[in-house]
Amino acid sequence: MRKQRNWNESYRDGDVPWDTGRPSPELQRVIMQHGIQPCRALEVGCGSGTNSVWLAQQGFQVTAIDLAPLAVEQANRKAKKSGVQIRFLSGDICKWDQPMESFGFFFDRGCYHAVRREPGNAYVNVISRLLASGGRGLILAGNAREPHVPGPPVVSEEDIRNELGEKFCILDLQEFRFDEAPGVPEKFLGWSCLVKKLDL
Ligand SMILES: C[S@@+](CC[C@H](N)C(=O)[O-])C[C@H]1O[C@@H](n2cnc3c(N)ncnc32)[C@H](O)[C@@H]1O
Repeated sequence: MRKQRNWNESYRDGDVPWDTGRPSPELQRVIMQHGIQPCRALEVGCGSGTNSVWLAQQGFQVTAIDLAPLAVEQANRKAKKSGVQIRFLSGDICKWDQPMESFGFFFDRGCYHAVRREPGNAYVNVISRLLASGGRGLILAGNAREPHVPGPPVVSEEDIRNELGEKFCILDLQEFRFDEAPGVPEKFLGWSCLVKKLDL
């Protein structure tokens, strides 16, 4: 059993082995190849905000949520420095109950695989509620075919299909490799999962 990470302490101590400081090439690929047009976008577990900044630079109106207040502080600074407007919020996505405008797209690199065991499939229910009808999202998660400690938490294809399938149609599920972060040479195997909200 993995020890539960204290996210805020990780940002305080600079112990952030997932933080490449570069926009995710997989996010860039999916946005381009699937023709996802600028719209209201939500980044879940945005960390220090690199991907939110990239989305804002592409014309998306970005709202980004992270549990760790220190991550949100770092992300705010990054957005200011880059000259883009992003709404950063601190909170637990699984308990998110504040009303918000709905989103046409969401992005998650490394949050779903950490919170997916919260009771009641909370992550999936909250994200689906926040998405507009027909809204799409991209989730990047660790892949159980190559468990690696240290490395991201992992999830199997069957679990992804069961958990996300409750509220989303899985448009594309493929393996990819996370890009390496400074001091972490491994390119961990992941899942790239493009979903579309089901009209239930
Ligand atoms: C592996 S890090 C990835 C950060 C960022 N997406 C990146 O790629 O650099 C996971 C992020 O999810 C955030 N997180 C974890 N649990 C969360 C929750 N319940 N609600 C919102 N954010 C959460 C953490 O604070 C952390 O910033």
